[in-house]
Amino acid sequence: MRVLIIGASGQLGSALRHTFADHTLLTPSHRELDMSQPQAIKAVRELAPDVVLLPGAYTNVDGCALDPERAFRENTLGPKYVALACARRDVPLVYVSTNEVFSGVATTPYREYDQPGPINAYGRSKWGGEQAVLQHAPTAMVARVAWLFGGQRNFIRTILRLASQQADTGQPLRVVDDEVGSPTYTPDAALAIRQLVDAGIPGIYHLVNAGHCSRYALACAALQSAAIDAPIEPITSAHFSRPSTPPAYTPLINSAAAALGITLRPWQSAVEEYSGMLALERTA
Ligand SMILES: NC(=O)c1ccc[n+]([C@@H]2O[C@H](COP(=O)([O-])OP(=O)(O)OC[C@H]3O[C@@H](n4cnc5c(N)ncnc54)[C@H](OP(=O)(O)O)[C@@H]3O)[C@@H](O)[C@H]2O)c1
Repeated sequence: MRVLIIGASGQLGSALRHTFADHTLLTPSHRELDMSQPQAIKAVRELAPDVVLLPGAYTNVDGCALDPERAFRENTLGPKYVALACARRDVPLVYVSTNEVFSGVATTPYREYDQPGPINAYGRSKWGGEQAVLQHAPTAMVARVAWLFGGQRNFIRTILRLASQQADTGQPLRVVDDEVGSPTYTPDAALAIRQLVDAGIPGIYHLVNAGHCSRYALACAALQSAAIDAPIEPITSAHFSRPSTPPAYTPLINSAAAALGITLRPWQSAVEEYSGMLALERTA
């Protein structure tokens, strides 16, 4: 099977490359295939994929807030062009989306049938991408993930790096405790996406590790798994100013995937594996 991955160099894209390595992989770089340009329709068709995986996106949420027009081009128009290319030949498409399509004002975790209501430019552009994909390629699958970790740049890596840097100063790490979500380990999400492709049933899917926590609780779990004894202190997001406002409460529940027998392990187990691995890397 010819598997086209758009955004293959990214965090989730790298895990997808690994998970689909037994197939013929087509992994154009951003420069070779810029999905935000209409020429992407022709470029995707010419690659003649049997399936298209689309983790690619403009993921800089603060950048999206500062340049919403770029967010729209990359995250809404881009997926639309890819969907148009797939629809013409009925090629299955998996579009990766985000917890940030939700407003975060709920008090219980979001399911696939809950109404999105993004509160920032990144979330609006990704929701626009979902709608464009489902409109133009009705047989597509939308896979919402959240709080990704597993690659080279992510929250857990940052926490472990800062903890080692601050060990000498004695200053505590300060991490927000009022943003709650569902951490997602990229190898687990990639495997679930492979299972989705095998199932081939269109629609919206949440694919996060089971359970949820605050950023502070996630940082504590990562430090513990890496056996780093660093002082850490919870703060509220009011202390942490940034261009984009993240939704406060966006845990997801994987109801639609569970109905197909696709389950992801609890986030604590995934964090333990990943942070333990990073700790070994650091001492090697
Ligand atoms: N990171 C998270 O915590 C998180 C949370 C929820 C949902 N998501 C979603 O999950 C997906 C994967 O996220 P990630 O963190 O793995 O992303 P990432 O590491 O930032 O990688 C994004 C990839 O997309 C490529 N790309 C960007 N614009 C493109 C364009 N116009 N045409 C073609 N390729 C383009 C990038 O190439 P270059 O690097 O060369 O520009 C890169 O390979 C995204 O759709 C994101 O919205 C992420």
